[in-house]
Amino acid sequence: MDKKNILLGVTGGIAAYKMVNVASGLTKKGHEVHVIMTDSAQEFISPISFKTITGFVVESDLFEHNKDQEVKHITLADNADLMLIGPATANIIGKVANGIADDLLSTIVTAVRSPVIIAPSMNVNMFNNPIVQDNINYLKQKGYDMISPAEGRLACGYEGKGRLPEPEILIDYVLKKLTEKDLADKKILVTAGPTQERIDPVRYITNKSSGKMGYALAKRAVYRGAKVKLISGPTTLSMPLGVDFERVETALDLYNSVMNCFKDFDIVVMAAAVADFTPKDYAEDKLKKDNQDNFTLNLKRTNDVIKEVVKNKNKEQVVVGFAAESKDLIVNAEKKLINKGLDMIVANDIKNKKIFNKDESEVVVITREQKIDISRSAKENIADRIYDMLK
Ligand code: CTP
Repeated sequence: MDKKNILLGVTGGIAAYKMVNVASGLTKKGHEVHVIMTDSAQEFISPISFKTITGFVVESDLFEHNKDQEVKHITLADNADLMLIGPATANIIGKVANGIADDLLSTIVTAVRSPVIIAPSMNVNMFNNPIVQDNINYLKQKGYDMISPAEGRLACGYEGKGRLPEPEILIDYVLKKLTEKDLADKKILVTAGPTQERIDPVRYITNKSSGKMGYALAKRAVYRGAKVKLISGPTTLSMPLGVDFERVETALDLYNSVMNCFKDFDIVVMAAAVADFTPKDYAEDKLKKDNQDNFTLNLKRTNDVIKEVVKNKNKEQVVVGFAAESKDLIVNAEKKLINKGLDMIVANDIKNKKIFNKDESEVVVITREQKIDISRSAKENIADRIYDMLK
Protein backbone atom coordinates (compact mmCIF):
# COMPACT_ATOMS: atom_id res chain seq x y z
CA MET A 1 0.00 0.00 0.00
CA ASP A 2 1.25 3.52 -0.79
CA LYS A 3 1.96 5.86 2.07
CA LYS A 4 -1.30 7.28 3.41
CA ASN A 5 -2.06 10.33 5.50
CA ILE A 6 -3.97 9.22 8.59
CA LEU A 7 -5.53 11.48 11.22
CA LEU A 8 -5.92 10.06 14.72
CA GLY A 9 -8.37 11.97 16.88
CA VAL A 10 -7.85 11.20 20.56
CA THR A 11 -10.45 12.31 23.11
CA GLY A 12 -10.54 12.14 26.90
CA GLY A 13 -10.99 8.48 27.75
CA ILE A 14 -8.93 6.25 30.00
CA ALA A 15 -8.02 4.16 26.93
CA ALA A 16 -6.21 7.10 25.29
CA TYR A 17 -2.92 5.35 26.08
CA LYS A 18 -3.82 2.52 23.64
CA MET A 19 -3.74 5.02 20.79
CA VAL A 20 0.04 5.35 21.21
CA ASN A 21 0.34 1.77 19.96
CA VAL A 22 -2.10 2.49 17.16
CA ALA A 23 0.01 5.48 16.09
CA SER A 24 3.14 3.36 16.36
CA GLY A 25 1.73 0.43 14.34
CA LEU A 26 0.52 2.67 11.53
CA THR A 27 3.78 4.64 11.46
CA LYS A 28 5.77 1.39 11.26
CA LYS A 29 3.67 0.38 8.25
CA GLY A 30 5.04 3.49 6.54
CA HIS A 31 2.06 5.84 6.93
CA GLU A 32 2.09 9.49 7.96
CA VAL A 33 0.14 9.80 11.19
CA HIS A 34 -1.09 13.14 12.54
CA VAL A 35 -2.57 13.14 16.01
CA ILE A 36 -5.18 15.62 17.17
CA MET A 37 -5.91 15.62 20.90
CA THR A 38 -8.70 17.32 22.79
CA ASP A 39 -7.86 19.15 26.02
CA SER A 40 -9.43 16.31 28.02
CA ALA A 41 -7.29 13.72 26.21
CA GLN A 42 -4.21 15.56 27.45
CA GLU A 43 -5.36 14.96 31.02
CA PHE A 44 -4.83 11.24 30.35
CA ILE A 45 -1.72 11.14 28.21
CA SER A 46 1.03 13.51 27.15
CA PRO A 47 1.25 14.66 23.50
CA ILE A 48 5.00 14.01 23.68
CA SER A 49 4.40 10.25 23.41
CA PHE A 50 2.60 10.70 20.09
CA LYS A 51 5.08 13.27 18.78
CA THR A 52 8.02 10.98 19.51
CA ILE A 53 6.39 8.05 17.73
CA THR A 54 4.90 9.81 14.69
CA GLY A 55 7.53 12.51 14.21
CA PHE A 56 4.79 15.14 13.94
CA VAL A 57 3.69 17.78 16.40
CA VAL A 58 0.39 16.89 18.07
CA GLU A 59 -2.30 19.39 17.17
CA SER A 60 -4.87 20.53 19.68
CA ASP A 61 -5.33 24.27 19.44
CA LEU A 62 -7.72 25.72 16.88
CA PHE A 63 -6.38 29.24 17.21
CA GLU A 64 -2.64 28.62 17.66
CA HIS A 65 -0.51 30.94 15.53
CA ASN A 66 0.91 29.20 12.53
CA LYS A 67 3.94 30.51 10.65
CA ASP A 68 2.82 29.17 7.26
CA GLN A 69 -0.43 31.10 7.48
CA GLU A 70 -2.32 27.87 6.81
CA VAL A 71 -5.82 27.35 8.08
CA LYS A 72 -4.74 24.40 10.17
CA HIS A 73 -7.99 22.50 10.53
CA ILE A 74 -8.69 22.72 6.81
CA THR A 75 -5.18 21.68 5.75
CA LEU A 76 -5.23 18.68 8.08
CA ALA A 77 -8.72 17.70 6.89
CA ASP A 78 -7.90 18.16 3.19
CA ASN A 79 -4.75 16.06 3.33
CA ALA A 80 -6.32 13.11 5.15
CA ASP A 81 -6.87 9.74 3.49
CA LEU A 82 -8.65 8.49 6.60
CA MET A 83 -9.53 9.63 10.09
CA LEU A 84 -9.86 7.43 13.18
CA ILE A 85 -11.32 8.81 16.40
CA GLY A 86 -10.54 6.69 19.43
CA PRO A 87 -11.27 6.49 22.22
CA ALA A 88 -14.39 8.41 21.18
CA THR A 89 -16.25 9.75 24.21
CA ALA A 90 -20.01 10.31 24.38
CA ASN A 91 -19.14 14.00 24.06
CA ILE A 92 -17.34 13.83 20.68
CA ILE A 93 -19.95 11.41 19.33
CA GLY A 94 -22.69 13.84 20.35
CA LYS A 95 -20.85 16.76 18.79
CA VAL A 96 -20.21 15.04 15.46
CA ALA A 97 -23.80 13.78 15.28
CA ASN A 98 -25.08 17.32 15.81
CA GLY A 99 -22.59 19.17 13.63
CA ILE A 100 -20.99 20.97 16.55
CA ALA A 101 -17.50 22.25 15.76
CA ASP A 102 -16.09 24.07 18.79
CA ASP A 103 -12.49 22.85 19.05
CA LEU A 104 -9.78 21.62 16.68
CA LEU A 105 -10.85 17.97 16.62
CA SER A 106 -14.58 18.56 16.12
CA THR A 107 -13.79 21.20 13.49
CA ILE A 108 -11.60 18.79 11.56
CA VAL A 109 -14.21 16.00 11.66
CA THR A 110 -16.72 18.43 10.23
CA ALA A 111 -14.35 19.48 7.44
CA VAL A 112 -12.84 16.13 6.53
CA ARG A 113 -13.92 14.42 3.28
CA SER A 114 -12.09 11.11 3.83
CA PRO A 115 -13.72 8.11 5.52
CA VAL A 116 -14.06 8.53 9.30
CA ILE A 117 -13.91 5.56 11.66
CA ILE A 118 -15.17 6.09 15.21
CA ALA A 119 -14.22 3.79 18.09
CA PRO A 120 -16.51 4.61 21.04
CA SER A 121 -15.20 3.84 24.52
CA MET A 122 -16.91 4.75 27.78
CA ASN A 123 -18.75 3.41 30.81
CA VAL A 124 -21.32 0.75 29.88
CA ASN A 125 -24.26 2.83 31.14
CA MET A 126 -23.10 5.84 29.16
CA PHE A 127 -22.72 3.62 26.09
CA ASN A 128 -26.23 2.21 26.56
CA ASN A 129 -27.75 5.66 27.09
CA PRO A 130 -30.48 6.01 24.45
CA ILE A 131 -29.23 9.41 23.32
CA VAL A 132 -25.70 8.09 22.82
CA GLN A 133 -27.12 5.07 20.98
CA ASP A 134 -29.26 7.34 18.78
CA ASN A 135 -26.19 9.43 17.96
CA ILE A 136 -24.19 6.30 17.08
CA ASN A 137 -26.96 4.97 14.85
CA TYR A 138 -27.42 8.33 13.20
CA LEU A 139 -23.69 8.55 12.43
CA LYS A 140 -23.74 5.02 10.99
CA GLN A 141 -26.62 6.06 8.71
CA LYS A 142 -24.59 9.05 7.60
CA GLY A 143 -21.73 6.80 6.50
CA TYR A 144 -19.40 6.90 9.50
CA ASP A 145 -17.79 3.56 10.36
CA MET A 146 -18.30 2.49 13.97
CA ILE A 147 -16.06 0.00 15.72
CA SER A 148 -18.08 -1.77 18.36
CA PRO A 149 -16.52 -1.48 21.85
CA ALA A 150 -15.19 -4.66 23.45
CA GLU A 151 -16.78 -6.20 26.53
CA GLY A 152 -14.96 -6.70 29.79
CA ARG A 153 -13.92 -4.98 32.97
CA LEU A 154 -14.08 -1.22 32.58
CA ALA A 155 -11.78 1.27 34.29
CA CYS A 156 -14.74 2.57 36.32
CA GLY A 157 -15.17 -0.87 37.90
CA TYR A 158 -18.21 -1.88 35.86
CA GLU A 159 -18.31 -4.99 33.67
CA GLY A 160 -19.77 -4.62 30.19
CA LYS A 161 -19.47 -3.15 26.75
CA GLY A 162 -17.34 -0.04 26.57
CA ARG A 163 -13.68 -1.00 26.31
CA LEU A 164 -11.63 0.37 23.43
CA PRO A 165 -10.62 -2.66 21.32
CA GLU A 166 -6.94 -3.58 21.35
CA PRO A 167 -4.61 -1.53 19.11
CA GLU A 168 -4.07 -4.39 16.61
CA ILE A 169 -7.81 -4.48 15.98
CA LEU A 170 -7.99 -0.72 15.43
CA ILE A 171 -4.98 -0.88 13.09
CA ASP A 172 -6.66 -3.71 11.19
CA TYR A 173 -9.82 -1.62 10.66
CA VAL A 174 -7.79 1.32 9.38
CA LEU A 175 -5.65 -0.72 6.98
CA LYS A 176 -8.66 -2.65 5.72
CA LYS A 177 -10.56 0.56 5.03
CA LEU A 178 -7.59 1.99 3.12
CA THR A 179 -7.16 -1.07 0.89
CA GLU A 180 -8.57 -1.02 -2.63
CA LYS A 181 -11.42 -3.56 -2.89
CA ASP A 182 -10.25 -5.18 -6.10
CA LEU A 183 -11.38 -8.68 -5.06
CA ALA A 184 -14.90 -7.57 -4.13
CA ASP A 185 -16.47 -9.91 -6.68
CA LYS A 186 -14.54 -12.97 -5.45
CA LYS A 187 -15.35 -15.71 -2.97
CA ILE A 188 -12.19 -17.32 -1.65
CA LEU A 189 -11.74 -20.48 0.43
CA VAL A 190 -8.42 -20.78 2.26
CA THR A 191 -7.17 -23.71 4.34
CA ALA A 192 -4.33 -23.21 6.81
CA GLY A 193 -2.19 -24.84 9.46
CA PRO A 194 -1.40 -28.48 10.13
CA THR A 195 -3.77 -31.34 10.84
CA GLN A 196 -3.40 -33.53 13.91
CA GLU A 197 -3.98 -37.27 13.60
CA ARG A 198 -4.72 -38.85 16.95
CA ILE A 199 -2.81 -41.97 18.00
CA ASP A 200 -4.14 -42.20 21.55
CA PRO A 201 -5.60 -39.67 24.03
CA VAL A 202 -2.25 -37.88 24.46
CA ARG A 203 -0.38 -38.43 21.19
CA TYR A 204 -0.79 -37.43 17.59
CA ILE A 205 1.14 -37.04 14.36
CA THR A 206 1.26 -33.75 12.60
CA ASN A 207 3.12 -31.63 10.07
CA LYS A 208 5.28 -28.68 10.99
CA SER A 209 3.19 -25.63 10.08
CA SER A 210 2.44 -22.38 11.92
CA GLY A 211 -0.52 -21.53 9.66
CA LYS A 212 0.85 -18.01 9.11
CA MET A 213 0.84 -18.18 5.30
CA GLY A 214 -2.79 -19.33 5.16
CA TYR A 215 -3.89 -16.70 7.69
CA ALA A 216 -2.05 -14.02 5.69
CA LEU A 217 -3.88 -15.20 2.55
CA ALA A 218 -7.23 -15.01 4.33
CA LYS A 219 -6.50 -11.60 5.83
CA ARG A 220 -5.35 -10.00 2.57
CA ALA A 221 -8.34 -11.41 0.70
CA VAL A 222 -10.68 -9.83 3.27
CA TYR A 223 -8.82 -6.51 3.09
CA ARG A 224 -9.21 -6.56 -0.68
CA GLY A 225 -12.95 -7.04 -0.40
CA ALA A 226 -13.37 -10.77 -1.03
CA LYS A 227 -15.84 -12.95 0.82
CA VAL A 228 -13.54 -15.36 2.65
CA LYS A 229 -13.86 -18.64 4.49
CA LEU A 230 -10.85 -19.89 6.45
CA ILE A 231 -10.71 -23.53 7.49
CA SER A 232 -7.87 -23.92 9.94
CA GLY A 233 -6.13 -26.79 11.64
CA PRO A 234 -4.76 -26.26 15.16
CA THR A 235 -2.68 -23.06 15.36
CA THR A 236 -1.97 -20.41 17.98
CA LEU A 237 -2.96 -17.57 15.66
CA SER A 238 -5.94 -15.32 16.22
CA MET A 239 -8.77 -15.44 13.73
CA PRO A 240 -8.43 -12.70 11.09
CA LEU A 241 -11.21 -10.09 11.24
CA GLY A 242 -14.03 -10.54 8.79
CA VAL A 243 -13.55 -14.20 7.80
CA ASP A 244 -16.03 -17.00 8.11
CA PHE A 245 -13.90 -19.23 10.33
CA GLU A 246 -14.02 -22.98 10.86
CA ARG A 247 -11.64 -24.94 13.10
CA VAL A 248 -10.74 -28.54 12.23
CA GLU A 249 -8.39 -31.08 13.74
CA THR A 250 -7.79 -34.02 11.42
CA ALA A 251 -7.23 -34.54 7.69
CA LEU A 252 -10.66 -36.18 7.58
CA ASP A 253 -12.31 -33.14 9.25
CA LEU A 254 -10.59 -30.89 6.74
CA TYR A 255 -11.66 -33.10 3.84
CA ASN A 256 -15.30 -33.07 5.03
CA SER A 257 -15.35 -29.31 5.59
CA VAL A 258 -13.77 -28.47 2.24
CA MET A 259 -15.93 -30.91 0.27
CA ASN A 260 -19.01 -29.47 1.98
CA CYS A 261 -18.43 -25.92 0.82
CA PHE A 262 -15.82 -25.56 -1.95
CA LYS A 263 -18.46 -25.38 -4.69
CA ASP A 264 -19.49 -21.95 -3.36
CA PHE A 265 -16.07 -20.41 -4.01
CA ASP A 266 -14.31 -18.92 -7.03
CA ILE A 267 -10.82 -19.61 -5.69
CA VAL A 268 -9.67 -22.44 -3.40
CA VAL A 269 -6.26 -21.98 -1.78
CA MET A 270 -4.99 -25.08 0.01
CA ALA A 271 -2.23 -23.75 2.22
CA ALA A 272 -2.89 -26.36 4.92
CA ALA A 273 -0.16 -28.89 5.62
CA VAL A 274 -2.43 -31.92 5.53
CA ALA A 275 -1.17 -35.21 6.97
CA ASP A 276 -0.78 -37.76 4.19
CA PHE A 277 -1.18 -40.66 6.62
CA THR A 278 -3.25 -41.21 9.74
CA PRO A 279 -3.18 -44.03 12.33
CA LYS A 280 -5.15 -47.04 11.15
CA ASP A 281 -6.67 -47.44 14.60
CA TYR A 282 -7.17 -44.98 17.42
CA ALA A 283 -6.23 -46.36 20.86
CA GLU A 284 -8.91 -45.36 23.38
CA ASP A 285 -6.40 -45.88 26.22
CA LYS A 286 -2.94 -44.47 26.39
CA LEU A 287 -0.43 -46.77 24.70
CA LYS A 288 2.14 -48.22 27.11
CA LYS A 289 5.76 -48.89 26.29
CA ASP A 290 5.72 -52.21 28.19
CA ASN A 291 9.47 -52.67 27.89
CA GLN A 292 9.33 -52.78 24.10
CA ASP A 293 12.42 -51.51 22.27
CA ASN A 294 10.53 -50.90 19.05
CA PHE A 295 7.04 -49.85 18.30
CA THR A 296 5.18 -50.16 15.03
CA LEU A 297 2.39 -47.76 14.23
CA ASN A 298 0.10 -48.76 11.38
CA LEU A 299 -0.91 -45.88 9.17
CA LYS A 300 -3.34 -45.49 6.32
CA ARG A 301 -3.52 -42.84 3.58
CA THR A 302 -5.74 -39.83 4.06
CA ASN A 303 -7.86 -38.39 1.26
CA ASP A 304 -6.02 -36.01 -1.02
CA VAL A 305 -8.30 -33.04 -0.47
CA ILE A 306 -7.01 -30.85 -3.27
CA LYS A 307 -7.18 -33.69 -5.81
CA GLU A 308 -10.82 -34.31 -4.90
CA VAL A 309 -11.58 -30.59 -5.26
CA VAL A 310 -10.03 -30.53 -8.72
CA LYS A 311 -11.96 -33.66 -9.70
CA ASN A 312 -15.31 -32.13 -8.70
CA LYS A 313 -14.89 -28.45 -9.50
CA ASN A 314 -16.36 -26.52 -12.40
CA LYS A 315 -14.29 -24.96 -15.20
CA GLU A 316 -14.34 -21.44 -13.75
CA GLN A 317 -13.08 -22.39 -10.30
CA VAL A 318 -9.38 -21.81 -9.66
CA VAL A 319 -7.36 -24.11 -7.37
CA VAL A 320 -4.06 -23.19 -5.76
CA GLY A 321 -1.83 -25.68 -3.94
CA PHE A 322 1.33 -25.42 -1.90
CA ALA A 323 4.40 -27.61 -2.20
CA ALA A 324 6.90 -27.92 0.63
CA GLU A 325 10.06 -29.50 -0.76
CA SER A 326 13.51 -30.24 0.61
CA LYS A 327 15.13 -30.89 -2.80
CA ASP A 328 14.46 -30.34 -6.51
CA LEU A 329 12.00 -27.59 -5.56
CA ILE A 330 10.85 -26.60 -9.03
CA VAL A 331 10.78 -30.10 -10.54
CA ASN A 332 8.76 -31.51 -7.64
CA ALA A 333 6.41 -28.56 -7.48
CA GLU A 334 5.77 -28.72 -11.24
CA LYS A 335 5.00 -32.43 -10.90
CA LYS A 336 2.40 -31.66 -8.22
CA LEU A 337 0.92 -28.88 -10.36
CA ILE A 338 0.39 -31.31 -13.24
CA ASN A 339 -0.48 -34.49 -11.27
CA LYS A 340 -3.05 -32.74 -9.13
CA GLY A 341 -4.43 -30.67 -12.01
CA LEU A 342 -3.87 -27.34 -10.21
CA ASP A 343 -3.98 -23.85 -11.68
CA MET A 344 -1.13 -22.63 -9.51
CA ILE A 345 1.34 -24.04 -7.01
CA VAL A 346 3.36 -22.08 -4.47
CA ALA A 347 6.69 -23.79 -3.85
CA ASN A 348 8.59 -23.48 -0.56
CA ASP A 349 12.10 -24.71 0.10
CA ILE A 350 11.80 -26.23 3.59
CA LYS A 351 15.59 -26.47 3.95
CA ASN A 352 15.42 -22.70 4.29
CA LYS A 353 15.25 -22.34 8.07
CA LYS A 354 14.21 -18.72 7.77
CA ILE A 355 10.66 -19.49 6.66
CA PHE A 356 9.15 -21.71 9.37
CA ASN A 357 6.98 -19.93 11.90
CA LYS A 358 8.13 -16.58 10.51
CA ASP A 359 6.17 -13.60 9.23
CA GLU A 360 8.28 -13.66 6.08
CA SER A 361 8.97 -16.26 3.45
CA GLU A 362 10.38 -16.74 -0.04
CA VAL A 363 8.56 -18.81 -2.63
CA VAL A 364 8.34 -19.63 -6.31
CA VAL A 365 4.83 -19.29 -7.75
CA ILE A 366 4.28 -21.64 -10.68
CA THR A 367 1.38 -21.70 -13.12
CA ARG A 368 1.06 -23.42 -16.53
CA GLU A 369 2.37 -20.23 -18.16
CA GLN A 370 4.83 -18.69 -15.75
CA LYS A 371 7.24 -19.11 -12.89
CA ILE A 372 7.68 -16.14 -10.58
CA ASP A 373 10.35 -15.93 -7.89
CA ILE A 374 9.17 -13.96 -4.89
CA SER A 375 12.21 -13.04 -2.82
CA ARG A 376 12.05 -12.77 0.93
CA SER A 377 9.09 -10.66 1.92
CA ALA A 378 6.19 -10.51 4.37
CA LYS A 379 3.72 -13.38 3.99
CA GLU A 380 0.99 -10.75 3.50
CA ASN A 381 2.92 -9.35 0.51
CA ILE A 382 3.32 -12.85 -0.90
CA ALA A 383 -0.44 -13.33 -0.49
CA ASP A 384 -1.03 -10.12 -2.45
CA ARG A 385 1.29 -11.22 -5.25
CA ILE A 386 -0.57 -14.53 -5.48
CA TYR A 387 -3.94 -12.77 -5.77
CA ASP A 388 -2.51 -10.29 -8.30
CA MET A 389 -1.56 -13.24 -10.50
CA LEU A 390 -5.02 -14.80 -10.14
CA LYS A 391 -7.07 -11.66 -10.86
N1 CTP B 1 -2.91 -31.74 0.23
C1 CTP B 1 -4.23 -32.13 0.30
N2 CTP B 1 -4.57 -33.32 0.89
C2 CTP B 1 -3.63 -34.13 1.40
C3 CTP B 1 -2.28 -33.74 1.34
C4 CTP B 1 -1.96 -32.52 0.74
O1 CTP B 1 -5.09 -31.40 -0.16
N3 CTP B 1 -3.99 -35.26 1.99
C5 CTP B 1 -2.59 -30.48 -0.45
C6 CTP B 1 -1.86 -29.49 0.42
O2 CTP B 1 -2.74 -28.61 1.09
C7 CTP B 1 -0.99 -28.74 -0.59
C8 CTP B 1 -0.67 -29.80 -1.61
O3 CTP B 1 -1.69 -30.77 -1.49
O4 CTP B 1 -1.70 -27.72 -1.23
C9 CTP B 1 0.63 -30.45 -1.30
O5 CTP B 1 0.80 -31.52 -2.13
P1 CTP B 1 1.32 -32.95 -1.61
O6 CTP B 1 1.84 -33.67 -2.78
O7 CTP B 1 0.29 -33.66 -0.88
O8 CTP B 1 2.43 -32.50 -0.67
P2 CTP B 1 3.09 -33.37 0.32
O9 CTP B 1 2.14 -33.90 1.31
O10 CTP B 1 4.23 -32.57 0.82
O11 CTP B 1 3.52 -34.54 -0.68
P3 CTP B 1 4.81 -35.40 -0.66
O12 CTP B 1 4.83 -35.93 0.70
O13 CTP B 1 4.51 -36.42 -1.72
O14 CTP B 1 5.88 -34.46 -1.04
